[in-house]
Amino acid sequence: MKYSRIVGTGRYLPERIMTNADLEKIVDTSDEWIRTRTGVERRHMCAEGQTTSDMCIEAAKVAIKDAGIDVSEIDMVITGTTTPDLVFPNVSTIIQHKLGIPACTAFSLEAACTGFIYALTTADKFIKAGEAKCALVMGAECITKLVDWTDRNTCVLFGDGAGAVILKPSDEPGIISCHLGADGQYKDLLYYPVGVSSNLAVAGTPAANIIMSGNEVFKVAVKTLGNIAMETLEDAGVTKEELDWLVPHQANIRIIQAMAKRLDMPMEKVILTVQDHGNTSAASVPMALDVGIRDGRLKRGQLILMEAFGGGFTWGSILMRL
Ligand code: ACO
Repeated sequence: MKYSRIVGTGRYLPERIMTNADLEKIVDTSDEWIRTRTGVERRHMCAEGQTTSDMCIEAAKVAIKDAGIDVSEIDMVITGTTTPDLVFPNVSTIIQHKLGIPACTAFSLEAACTGFIYALTTADKFIKAGEAKCALVMGAECITKLVDWTDRNTCVLFGDGAGAVILKPSDEPGIISCHLGADGQYKDLLYYPVGVSSNLAVAGTPAANIIMSGNEVFKVAVKTLGNIAMETLEDAGVTKEELDWLVPHQANIRIIQAMAKRLDMPMEKVILTVQDHGNTSAASVPMALDVGIRDGRLKRGQLILMEAFGGGFTWGSILMRL
C-alpha cells in the first residue's frame, strides 16, 4: 500500500437559500455588484439551531453510502472547521458518536478556508503510515453565524455547508502529493476578533464582525495559490497540460479565473460552485469535488488539483488521481 485514495464523497447544503436579491433588501448592494465582483448569486444558510455537526452527519452519510462501507470500518474522523458546535468536545467526536462509528481517533482542526486541505493531508499521512485504514474527512462551516448582516463588505460573500470524503489505503494513486503553508504575518488582513481567550464578551455584537481587507487578501491569495500550484506540479513531475481538473476553494470567481490562467487551464476544466454556494470556507473544496463527481465531470483515474487559501494566512494544495 503506497497511497491513500478517496472512495466516496458527499455534501450537505442547508435548505434555506439567500439570493443576491434578498441581500439587496438588507444592505446597500446590488445583484450586479455581487455577481461581477465575486461570482456569487446565492448561498445556503443554516437554520436556527442547526450546527456544523448536523450538516457533517448528513454529508458523511452520503459519503459512507457512496463508498459502500459500513460505519464500523471507520477508524479516524477529522473535520476542518472554524465554526465547531462547541469549544469542546471537538466536533469530530460528536459526529463519530451520532453516526455510530466505533471509538477511534477523532479530532477537528482549524485552518480557516484551508481546513479541508489540512484535514485531508493529515488523514493521508495516517493512512500512509499504516495508522488508519478508513478515514472520514470533512470540511464544514456555519460561517453565516459569524457574519454581521449590516456590513455589505462581508455579508454578501459567505455561505454554509459541509463536504465529506472517505479515504482508504490503495496500491494505486490516490493522493500523489500534498503541500501546506501558513504565514501569521498576514493575520490582520483577515480575522474574526473573538476567541475563547480573547474578547469573548463581544461575541454576537457588531464588534465581532469578520474583519477583511478584501483587496489585500485578493492579491496575496492569487500570488500564493499560483506559486503553490506550480510547486505541487513540479514536485510530482507533472506538467500543467496533464491536469484534467482544477477543484479550487470558492472564495471569488476572479481569484479562480486567475488561478486557471496561471495553470493555462480553460474555465471548462474548473469546477465552479461559487455562484450557488458562496464562500463556504472549509466546506468549499469537498463540496465542489462532490458536485463534479456526481454530475459526471470528474472521473476515476483523472488528475485533479485541489487548492485553498484562507485566514492566517493558510494555504494548501493536493494533487491526486481520482
Ligand atoms: N455592494 C456594493 N458595493 C460594495 C459592496 C457590496 N456588497 N462591498 C463593498 N462595496 C464597495 C466598497 O465600499 C467600495 O466602495 P468605494 O470605492 O466607494 O470605497 C467598492 O465597492 C470597492 O470595494 P473593494 O473592496 O475595492 O472591492 P473589490 O473589487 O476588492 O471586491 C471583494 C471586494 C469581493 C471582497 C474582493 O476583494 C475579494 O473577494 N477578496 C478576497 C476575499 C477572500 O478570498 N477571502 C479569503 C477567504 S475568507 C476566509 O478565509 C474565512
